[in-house]
Amino acid sequence: DWTAESFVEQTIANLRKKLGNDKVVMALSGGVDSTVAATLVHQAIGSNLYCIFVDNGLLRKDEFEEVLHSYQDMGLNIKGVDSKSHFYNSLDGLSEPEAKRKAIGKSFIDIFDQEAHLIEEVKWLGQGTIYPDVIESVSINGPSATIKSHHNVGGLPDFMKLKIVEPLNTLFKDEVRAVGRTLGIDEKILGRHPFPGPGLAIRILGEITPEKVAILQEVDSIFIGGLRKWNLYKDVWQAGAMLLPVQSVGVMGDERTYESVVALRAVTSVDGMTADWAHLPYEFLAEVSNDIINKVKGVNRVVYDISSKPPATIEWE
Ligand code: XMP
Repeated sequence: DWTAESFVEQTIANLRKKLGNDKVVMALSGGVDSTVAATLVHQAIGSNLYCIFVDNGLLRKDEFEEVLHSYQDMGLNIKGVDSKSHFYNSLDGLSEPEAKRKAIGKSFIDIFDQEAHLIEEVKWLGQGTIYPDVIESVSINGPSATIKSHHNVGGLPDFMKLKIVEPLNTLFKDEVRAVGRTLGIDEKILGRHPFPGPGLAIRILGEITPEKVAILQEVDSIFIGGLRKWNLYKDVWQAGAMLLPVQSVGVMGDERTYESVVALRAVTSVDGMTADWAHLPYEFLAEVSNDIINKVKGVNRVVYDISSKPPATIEWE
């Protein structure tokens, strides 16, 4: 039967046969799938795998530096690319969710294409596609397609003419984690919550500015840090904060304030298709709410989202 050990052994052997001395380029996201896929390819072909990690300016606080360091520690041939201003420029003036997703997808392809062209004679594009992505991308052409455009799959521009290698495309998430463990990848990476490709851009309702990103990064960092501190991180399938395009009245000392509202969202789920709001302890919510309001300038109110999916979605955009 299927074991992670035999999968690793066979996949590495197959990759070696398939790729020979060819070069492969891969974009890494810091997520479980792309990290496990890259590690397998790296074990097969070493430094012929060229990894690219793009800072789109929409990641969690300090995430770019931390993840880049762990990739370096893992021995991957990785290049970090600071493209924050490219992404911010492309988002300028956009507030509609799908328009933001499209702009981010396009910027990503621009940057990736530019970087891939710097690698001489690269023949393959590696991707961390897993089985459920394969299924989901089929429905992109179906009636539900317009609900949300995913750019994890099929985001390859035709003119790049790269062959595709996707070592995880028969696996489910739990199998990917098991493979990651067999490969010795850090639990901190394997246990990470899912994070959307468009990042904080779809958690800032309306227009994106670097200032709003900075506020949301602080809020998110307090929330996620709190989940870790209270040992609740693993009980939750995904968590994050939304910066609402709403100002509310507050009071500080004897001054009235008029500042932003943030919504905290934490859900339990098996696959993200359906989800329940996480019944987090009131004491935890109280501490996190206090911390956010006291520490993050520009936020004077915190609410907790108690909607299930369906009919709500996990993200607010
Ligand atoms: P929803 O909001 O549809 O989210 O309940 C389900 C899961 O998908 C993630 N998500 C995205 N991931 N690009 C992505 O890579 C996107 O545009 C996108 N939109 C939502 C969401 O974070 C959740 O895990």
